Amino acid sequence: MSKSSEDPRKKIKEWWENPSTISLLDENLRILETDFVLPYLSKNMDMADFGCGGGESTAKYAAKVNSLLALEQSKQLRTRAKQRFKEDGLDNVTLVKGDVMDLSAYPGRFHVAVTQRVVINFMSWEEQKQVIRNIHDSLRPGGLYLAIENTHEGFEAMNSVRRDVGLDNILMHDWHNYFLHYDRFMDYVEGMFVVEKEHTFNLYYLLTRVFENMFAKFEGFGSNAVKDDIFTIADQAARKLYEVMGDRITFDVPKGTSFGPIQGFVLRKIS
Ligand SMILES: C[S@@+](CC[C@H](N)C(=O)[O-])C[C@H]1O[C@@H](n2cnc3c(N)ncnc32)[C@H](O)[C@@H]1O
Repeated sequence: MSKSSEDPRKKIKEWWENPSTISLLDENLRILETDFVLPYLSKNMDMADFGCGGGESTAKYAAKVNSLLALEQSKQLRTRAKQRFKEDGLDNVTLVKGDVMDLSAYPGRFHVAVTQRVVINFMSWEEQKQVIRNIHDSLRPGGLYLAIENTHEGFEAMNSVRRDVGLDNILMHDWHNYFLHYDRFMDYVEGMFVVEKEHTFNLYYLLTRVFENMFAKFEGFGSNAVKDDIFTIADQAARKLYEVMGDRITFDVPKGTSFGPIQGFVLRKIS
């Protein structure tokens, strides 16, 4: 084993430098994530997208705010993001090389900050807490942190139903993902933020990760995924149903509110 592959931070960095790595294979879920953020944005806001990746969602956010700092550690993803911002004609985005472990250059700077599956890229709760603290410190008093991150409990709620209908668990890629534990995440953020909303993609997850899997095949992960063609139209239909009905359906889950790993948290910095 090479020295770099023994160090989780280096290994994760290498993973994101690999052009075949896909941030989120499910394009419909990305639309739902982005649509969760957009209503909180307005033209007078300065925003940060920490760990912006290739900028797919970032470009949509930039079109709605005054200025946007897009911070990303991976060179190849910054190159992709740069190209995207150029193609979209966005002149209010500042794209920087950066590490969310050090946001000291941006004290009290932003009205709103977003992370989309970035905190879960840190393999210890100690590091995750530091990232959350850094984001808090980068916000103005009363600023919003929109955290779209995975919880262990939402993931388990989904997998338990998969098991009940005879499906295998979906596996977590535990060398580069460490999902938040709901209770301690809540305990930690409640000292710094008011939790204004917890958002879940429950119906979408039920349809796409359980129901569709009961009659169609989906194997593998990211660029290695092999799936039946039906997922293309079925996922789209699931998204439409979620858009129409998602808000009206709550699931009885053991902890937190989420059925499915990715969820959204609207956190307002305590002034
Ligand atoms: C799952 S991807 C999500 C990317 C983007 N937010 C999106 O929605 O497509 C996680 C991102 O976090 C970035 N990342 C991981 N650790 C980071 C760090 N310490 N500082 C900055 N970015 C980081 C990765 O390079 C990658 O782009």
